[in-house]
Amino acid sequence: MRNITFHIISYGCQMNVYDSRIIASILSENGYKETADENKADIVIMNTCSVREHAEQRAIGRIGDLQKFREKKPNFLIGVVGCMAQNLGNSIKGADFVVGPSGYRKLPEIIESIFKTKNSSSKKSNAYTLTSNTSLELYSDIFPEPVPAQVRMPASTLHPTAFVSVMRGCNNFCSYCIVPYVRGRARSRPSSDILKEIELLANKGVKEITLLGQSVNEYSYNGINFSQLLMLTDEMLKQVQHDSVPWIKFTTSHPKDMSQELIDAIRDGEKICEWIHLPIQSGSNEVLKKMGRGYTKEKYLDWIYKIRKSIPNIAITTDILVGFHGESDKNFQETLEVIKEVRFDFAYMFKYSERPRTKAYTMKPIVPEKIRIERLEKLINIQNEISYEKSSELIGTTQEVLVLGKSKKGNSLYGKTRQNKTIVFDSSSKITLPLQGDFVEVKIKELRGWTPYGKLLSKKIEPQRTQRKTS
Ligand code: SAH
Ligand code: SF4
Ligand code: F3S
Repeated sequence: MRNITFHIISYGCQMNVYDSRIIASILSENGYKETADENKADIVIMNTCSVREHAEQRAIGRIGDLQKFREKKPNFLIGVVGCMAQNLGNSIKGADFVVGPSGYRKLPEIIESIFKTKNSSSKKSNAYTLTSNTSLELYSDIFPEPVPAQVRMPASTLHPTAFVSVMRGCNNFCSYCIVPYVRGRARSRPSSDILKEIELLANKGVKEITLLGQSVNEYSYNGINFSQLLMLTDEMLKQVQHDSVPWIKFTTSHPKDMSQELIDAIRDGEKICEWIHLPIQSGSNEVLKKMGRGYTKEKYLDWIYKIRKSIPNIAITTDILVGFHGESDKNFQETLEVIKEVRFDFAYMFKYSERPRTKAYTMKPIVPEKIRIERLEKLINIQNEISYEKSSELIGTTQEVLVLGKSKKGNSLYGKTRQNKTIVFDSSSKITLPLQGDFVEVKIKELRGWTPYGKLLSKKIEPQRTQRKTS
C-alpha cells in the first residue's frame, strides 16, 4: 500500500469547508492519507474562493509560498480546487492540477496520472486543468454516489458539527456576485439523499447538522420545499438511534425567498435552532435594485418583524456590502439607519470588490476605494457596538453550550449555543472536564473582547428542545 499524504487548506465559505471533507473522503477511499500538518504532506490541496479579489490574491500568494516544498520533496504536488480554480483555470501559476467544483470525483485519477507522467519523464508538464461549464451539471455529477463519502469516514475523525449541502450553485445572479459563474446553476439535491446522509452522520454521533446552500431557502426538489425539508429532518432525527442529533441549523437564507412557513418551521421544529442568517447587503432601495436582490428595505424589515414576533429569542445575523457602484452618501446613511433599527446579533461586512464577468463589473459611477474603506470602517464601528451590546445581554444568563474544543488562549474551552454564538468558558472547575461534543451549562460572567466568557456549571445536560414550540 502506498503511503501518500495530503493536506487540504480551505478558503471561502462553508460550501468549501463541506467540499473539503468530500475531497478528503474521496482521496482517503483511494488510499491517500490525510495529514493535519502541511509540512508533512506530499500533496497540498487549496480549496479556493473567488468572491472578492482579495480572496484570490491571498490564495495566489499561498501557492507561491508552497513552492518551497518542491526543493525538498521531488514528488510534491500542489492542487488548486474550488471557485478560483473554476474562475482562473490554467492561468493559475505554480499548481500541478487545477480542478473546478464539479470535478472532485476525478481527483484520484488526475493525481495518479500526474504521478505517472512525473515518473516517466523529468520534463515538467503544465498543470492538469479540469474546469467545466457548471451550468448544466447535475448534483449527481459532482458526487460519485448519492450519499457523499464523509459518512463512511471513521466516527473518530468526525467533528461534533457537520455541514450537509442541500443544493449547489446559485441562480440569483446578484449583479456584484461571481458565485453563479463559478458554482453554476442552482441544483437541489434529492431530499432522500440528504436525509440519508444526515441519518448516517447522526448514527456516528454528530451533534449538530447545518444544512447548506447559497440560498438555502430556495431549495426545491420534487415538490418538497426548504421548510418541508427542515421539518422532515426534524422528524427523522427523532427516530434515529438515541434521538441523537439535538441541533439543526441552516445557512444562508435569501430574503426574497423568506416565507411564513419557514418561520413556522423554525418555531415548531424541536431541534431547529433559534438562528437565521439573512443577508441584507444594503439598506437603500436604490442600491438593492442595482444589486438585483429582489426585495426592498421595507420588505426586509417586515420579515425581521415577523421572525421576531414568532420567535422572540432568535439570533439574526447578516452580510452587508458597502461601496457598491452608485452608492451615494445618502444611500450609505440608509444602510446605517437600517442596521441601527434591526440590531443584528452579528454581521459580516465587506467593501465591494469588482469581479470580472459579473453584471456590475462595468457599472458606473464607481465609488472611489478611499470612500469604500471609510464607509466600511464607519459601518464596522457602529455594528461592533451593537454586537457588543447584544453579547452583553448574555451576562448573568445560563447558556447551553455544545463543546467544540480548546480555546486558543489559556486553558479555556469554547463552544456554540443554539443561537450560534461562540462562548468561551473556564475549565478549571472541579467538574470532570467536558469533552468535545458534550453539552454543558455555562454561566456567563463577562465579555472578553466580544466573546461571552463564563464558568462551567454542569456537564452533559439533556440538550434543550425548544421550549416555546407548544404555543
Ligand atoms: N449566498 C449568500 C452570499 C454568498 S457570498 C447570499 O446571497 O447572501 C457571501 C457574501 O460576500 C455576500 O453576502 C456579500 O455580502 C459578499 N460579496 C459577494 N460578492 C462580493 C463582491 N463582489 N465584493 C464584496 N463582497 C461580496
Ligand atoms: Fe451571490 Fe446573490 Fe447567489 Fe448569494 S444569492 S450567492 S449573493 S448571486
Ligand atoms: Fe467563495 Fe466560492 Fe463560497 S466564491 S464564498 S468559496 S461559493
